[in-house]
Amino acid sequence: MSHYQRHVFFCINDRGPDSDRPSCNRCGSAAIRDYAKKRIKDLGLSGAGKIRVNQAGCLDRCEQGPVCVVYPEGTWYTYVDESDVDEIIESHLVGGVPVERLEI
Ligand code: FES
Repeated sequence: MSHYQRHVFFCINDRGPDSDRPSCNRCGSAAIRDYAKKRIKDLGLSGAGKIRVNQAGCLDRCEQGPVCVVYPEGTWYTYVDESDVDEIIESHLVGGVPVERLEI
């Protein structure tokens, strides 16, 4: 059995403004990761057997970012703002229904 029911990784890589490639934290992904982590905790959903939010380095889908990935399903998302993250939390992490409009 998996230690967490669902495990979410947010890329927070930042190559800086002069890179040829985009990077997720240029779009504020670290702040979104913080928001998701707090939201999960506030909802009482964090911990063993529940949901874990972690940061990740580059996941190599930079051009489609900012990105996060949800396991065990392996569902990849992009997002714009906190409301998109709220939808991923409510629909997928809690309800088990992926948010198709945000999938990449
Ligand atoms: S910088 Fe986020 S996937 Fe590469």
